[in-house]
Amino acid sequence: MAKPSPRFVCQSCGAVHGKWSGRCGDCGEWNTIIEEASSDAAPRGLGSGKGRKLTFTALAGENTSQPLSRQVTGIAEFDRVTGGGLVPGSTVLVGGDPGIGKSTLMLQVAAGLADAAPAAYVSGEESIDQIRLRAGRLGLLGSSVVLATATNVRDIAASIETRDGPRLVVIDSIQTMYVDTIESAPGTVAQVRASAQALIRVAKRRGAILLLVGHVTKEGTIAGPRVLEHMVDTVLYFEGERGHQFRILRAVKNRFGPTDEIGVFEMTDGGLIEVPNPSSLFLGRHDGSGDGIAGSSVFAGMEGTRPILVEFQALIAPSSFATPRRAVVGWDSGRLHMVLAVLEARCGLALAGRDVYLNVAGGLRITEPAADLAAAAAVISSLANQPAPERSVVFGEIGLSGETRTVSQTETRLKEAAKLGFTSAVLPLRAKADRRAPSTSLALNEISALSDLVALFDEAGTAQPDPEPSVRRRSGNRPGNRPGNRGAGGR
Ligand code: TYD
Ligand code: MG
Repeated sequence: MAKPSPRFVCQSCGAVHGKWSGRCGDCGEWNTIIEEASSDAAPRGLGSGKGRKLTFTALAGENTSQPLSRQVTGIAEFDRVTGGGLVPGSTVLVGGDPGIGKSTLMLQVAAGLADAAPAAYVSGEESIDQIRLRAGRLGLLGSSVVLATATNVRDIAASIETRDGPRLVVIDSIQTMYVDTIESAPGTVAQVRASAQALIRVAKRRGAILLLVGHVTKEGTIAGPRVLEHMVDTVLYFEGERGHQFRILRAVKNRFGPTDEIGVFEMTDGGLIEVPNPSSLFLGRHDGSGDGIAGSSVFAGMEGTRPILVEFQALIAPSSFATPRRAVVGWDSGRLHMVLAVLEARCGLALAGRDVYLNVAGGLRITEPAADLAAAAAVISSLANQPAPERSVVFGEIGLSGETRTVSQTETRLKEAAKLGFTSAVLPLRAKADRRAPSTSLALNEISALSDLVALFDEAGTAQPDPEPSVRRRSGNRPGNRPGNRGAGGR
């Protein structure tokens, strides 16, 4: 028999290589390739064995009109993200950084369902006593969740398979589980994949709900990750800054519901508490009172169906590096680079040679392109050392030629801003038909180009002279927008 040749598997993307190297050629990650025992030699063909013929059924069946029966956990923020509750027989992967609160959430979810259906919490990381201690803190000791510590998938599968087995099983975490027929260590791609596959198969057969906890590595992927994402029905990420109390549950894949909803929780002494109305949570000091600090703007954003107002903060400082720093928390750094490039190239702002720091307050991660204008406003405000207009929200997408683009759900954003005490909004110029629609009480400042936003600060600047003006515009840029007299501008 030929000696099985070793396989080298990237732990980040699952790519298989013939030899070890420091960097995975597929995903570009460093130090992620490890040797795994190859399970099988070259794939064989089907051979001569005959298969059974499939019986095809029509698309329309008896129960197609019935909605999926879902198990509601009673934790409204969790149910919202899953699309209205958990579907029996489905598998949910819950990913997140270590210590973010995955185990806490899972225990609370299991307890929420335990009265309706037998629920089990299987931990490969903590002892029964530790889990009990946590349950005590969470006030869940009266719940009928059953606990077990196990890491062998064979045992867990056997326990789910029994007639009175649990209808909901939490596996905390999938990286600690192993299948005893595979030689690799727990946590490797081969083990994670095999463990998940075995558990999913038995859960599907029994119609049980499977919740898999998966740790995210430093690089931001669940270890053995993409491998798992396509195997499960739903992928939820639990995110937030460890220093902040707010946690956000986000669906990135959902076979049974939308993927743009978020659930907002607050981590307290007594566990995770739902935040049903999060629109003003991330405002920092901007509670509508407009206290005028330079370098900050309020973004009227949407998370799924819910409007959320978020403070964007920027700091521009002279750089002492050859290549200035651009650091971002809570937003896409590529997007910031684009906005900065447009500000330089189309609006003539002098940003080269300056460090740019951008921060989304409160630990929220913004993914909408609609945040472009808010980020730009914070940057311009910091550069000009002028506060953004008081009680004003900003939103809109920016194109590479410096034009602004309308974004979805403008009305909802404006309504929420008005509700929270804001009085004006800067937004992209809307189509005529939209402008006729009855609007909110906000004073609307519709702009068609990013340079109009810069001009807003220039105009305000005449009132508050900046001793050393840093918003400098190259001549010849949209002369029509240049305010005629900038008195104390020093230009
Ligand atoms: P945990 O659920 O263990 O995180 P994970 O499973 O994602 O690694 O949560 C760990 C953190 O949550 C820990 O730092 C303490 C904090 N915590 C609270 O603040 N309050 C609580 O009631 C609980 C149970 C945990
Ligand atoms: Mg944990």
